[in-house]
Amino acid sequence: MDMFILLTLLQMLSLNEAYNFTCPSQAHWNLRAKSMCNPERNYTCLFNVTFRVNVYNDTCNRPRLLGPGYKYVFQPNLNRATCSATRYQPFLFNTNGNSDCTYQKSLCNSLGQETYKIGNTSVDRKCICNTARGYSFVRNPKNQCYCDPSTEDCSCYLGINPYNETIKTKDINCYDDIEMTGISYLGDRYNISRKIKIVEFDNYIYNVHYVPTNLYRILAAILVLILSFACVVVLIIVQRAIRGWIKTRSTPRKLDIVECTDCSITIEWFIDVPDECLSYELDYRPQRTKDWSTGTFLSKDVLKEEYGQRMYKLQNLQPETYYELKMRSVYEEDVKSHYSESKTKQTLKLAPRKLDIVECTDCSITIEWFIDVRDECLSYELDYRPQRTKDWSTGICLSKDVLKEEYGRRMYKLQNLQPETYYELKMRSVYEENVKSHYSESKTKQTLKLGKDFIFQLDAS
Ligand SMILES: *[C@@H]1O[C@H](CO)[C@@H](O)[C@H](O)[C@H]1NC(C)=O
Ligand SMILES: *[C@@H]1O[C@H](CO)[C@@H](O)[C@H](O)[C@H]1NC(C)=O
Ligand SMILES: *[C@@H]1O[C@H](CO)[C@@H](O)[C@H](O)[C@H]1NC(C)=O
Ligand SMILES: *[C@@H]1O[C@H](CO)[C@@H](O)[C@H](O)[C@H]1NC(C)=O
Ligand SMILES: *[C@@H]1O[C@H](CO)[C@@H](O)[C@H](O)[C@H]1NC(C)=O
Ligand SMILES: *[C@@H]1O[C@H](CO)[C@@H](O)[C@H](O)[C@H]1NC(C)=O
Ligand SMILES: *[C@@H]1O[C@H](CO)[C@@H](O)[C@H](O)[C@H]1NC(C)=O
Repeated sequence: MDMFILLTLLQMLSLNEAYNFTCPSQAHWNLRAKSMCNPERNYTCLFNVTFRVNVYNDTCNRPRLLGPGYKYVFQPNLNRATCSATRYQPFLFNTNGNSDCTYQKSLCNSLGQETYKIGNTSVDRKCICNTARGYSFVRNPKNQCYCDPSTEDCSCYLGINPYNETIKTKDINCYDDIEMTGISYLGDRYNISRKIKIVEFDNYIYNVHYVPTNLYRILAAILVLILSFACVVVLIIVQRAIRGWIKTRSTPRKLDIVECTDCSITIEWFIDVPDECLSYELDYRPQRTKDWSTGTFLSKDVLKEEYGQRMYKLQNLQPETYYELKMRSVYEEDVKSHYSESKTKQTLKLAPRKLDIVECTDCSITIEWFIDVRDECLSYELDYRPQRTKDWSTGICLSKDVLKEEYGRRMYKLQNLQPETYYELKMRSVYEENVKSHYSESKTKQTLKLGKDFIFQLDAS
């Protein structure tokens, strides 16, 4: 028993390589197909004629059909071949379930039989009874000259033929027919070593009929030129279309906030350089509210810098408020791009506004400014320097020391200045925890000459 299993195993192992592989029989075909291919009908097992290997190979390939008289072989890949001399294929050859032409040709070699016609690879051999030796068909064949063993009983018997004469004349007619197809086949035993005729699909052979002449070469060159030109034209058109598409929908990129005051936010963004955008739509809202405000500004009002950088200052915002901003480009015919990503920024605390100089002596400058009435500012920082120097002096004045008037007007007198000197001044508010607003605009004023103490000059500018 053990021996038997061992032998079986050895046989199975060797089947893969050493043994000449043959295709599975009908009964085993489905088993092997199922184990090898999905779907099963892809299983293909054919004769391999490469390098005279002359064994069968199986593989997975989609099922294929061929006309009658032909089969497929591997050479090394699928190729059409005529059936071998011993077989014939009277209907379509299907690689699903078949590895060779379906039928074996009859031999016409039983008692008294002769080959009448071998026939091509889509029909069976035709038989005849050797009447010369007194044989005749057991049953009269459909055709008077020969019998088709695939459809009829072609047995012959040796007997007294009452119609010896008549049959003989008929026979002569038939033999004449045979002579036309080749008498050498008569009595010829089936030749086992007849080669398989492979029909090669060789491009060269097909093209040999069209021997390249100069005319053909010129024609080919012209064709190639025309095709290349067509390709270039198509490419250009496609490129234009893509560029146009991008142009009309170019979205502001890299939106960012570059500057922020108590009432304005300056944004920057980038847009493709050939910018045909007519205007921009800037949507902003105090964070966590739902009311988007939309500001639209024309492209020509935007500060343009190189590399497609654009800048715009959004004004009239609330101080100390988080704002969320996003924007998009607006093109002709109200075509709008996608929104840029959105950015959030808090505006600064209130800063002094409308800084101005109201009074000036040889050693002091009195300034005024405005700040919203709900002023929680603790102190003010007043920066001043003699013009065209770089040393800013900083004066701190507490909010309570500042002269307050109505409508948020504030005044302060800066003292101990040099006479007859141009001073540049700017200021900002300082809140709790040293939070500072941005600076006000700066002002410049010359102090008066010494000794003219009580001359007051109201600055008209
Ligand atoms: C395969 O077949 C060839 C010729 O038909 C034969 O010479 C050879 O020994 C066979 N190989 C095996 C492993 O059976
Ligand atoms: C086909 O058969 C040949 C000869 O046995 C073998 O060398 C080759 O590996 C086989 N190929 C496949 C794909 O099975
Ligand atoms: C099997 O057949 C299907 C179609 O019937 C085909 O799409 C698939 O590529 C085939 N598989 C192989 C390995 O040939
Ligand atoms: C075989 O002969 C028949 C009848 O002459 C013809 O119709 C058929 O095309 C031939 N087949 C081949 C493969 O030559
Ligand atoms: C046929 O045989 C050749 C040579 O052994 C091999 O390279 C080729 O893969 C085989 N074809 C198939 C389809 O197995
Ligand atoms: C038929 O004719 C052949 C010669 O043509 C002859 O040898 C044979 O004996 C004849 N058979 C009969 C039954 O007459
Ligand atoms: C079989 O055919 C081959 C050529 O195809 C030939 O050389 C050989 O002699 C033939 N054999 C017989 C028995 O006719």
